[in-house]
Amino acid sequence: MTSTLRSQRINQITHAPHAELDQAVKANDPFANRENFSRFVVAQYLFQAELQSLYQDAALVEVFPDLPARCRAEQARLDLADLDTDVPAPVAGAVQNPSFAEALGWLFVSEGSKLGAAFLIKRVAALGLTEEVGARHLGEPAGGRAEGWKSFTRTLDGLELSAEQEADVDKGALAAFNRFRELLQHAYTSADTPA
Ligand code: HEM
Repeated sequence: MTSTLRSQRINQITHAPHAELDQAVKANDPFANRENFSRFVVAQYLFQAELQSLYQDAALVEVFPDLPARCRAEQARLDLADLDTDVPAPVAGAVQNPSFAEALGWLFVSEGSKLGAAFLIKRVAALGLTEEVGARHLGEPAGGRAEGWKSFTRTLDGLELSAEQEADVDKGALAAFNRFRELLQHAYTSADTPA
């Protein structure tokens, strides 16, 4: 019997949500101008800010020692400043105390989004932005994008989990895609609301 790696399974079950999110991102034309791009960064900032406590969680850091350095909340915050955009207020509905296994699913999505970022970063040059200004959060992670992802999934795939935990990982990954959809929607619809 061939067993599917955990990371491959998560990829499979999130294929449709990823495709939908990809479409939703593009539907908002994030590279049309800086204003549109700044709304995208608002969504990215909110998502990363909500996950900050997971990136610093002791049990998770024990498994992924480089986890704190992987969080991009600070880069996204600096990008907002570069784009003259206020740091948004928190949005109700952030993930709260997920189980260890659910947190793995959330982190999988957040870390995986760095792969798509390799494509997105190519588009920001037209807006006069770079990995150093305005689009830091899409930048190449230290040690390389592919390496960072491989080491994350290698560790994830090596963990011993119960059947119940496996289900929780999937639940966390799906919830993460849902949440990003919500934050994206929020970012583009709240654009005209004064702070
Ligand atoms: C919040 C989560 C995510 C967001 C917002 C996101 C967004 C995107 C977008 C907009 C693209 C299209 C880029 C382009 O065509 O210019 C893309 C592509 C891609 N994403 Fe994601 N993504 C997310 C999560 C993930 C995850 C979890 C993985 C892997 C497990 C992943 C892997 C990829 C890959 C490999 C591509 C390249 C082309 C493709 O295969 O579709 N992304 N992503």
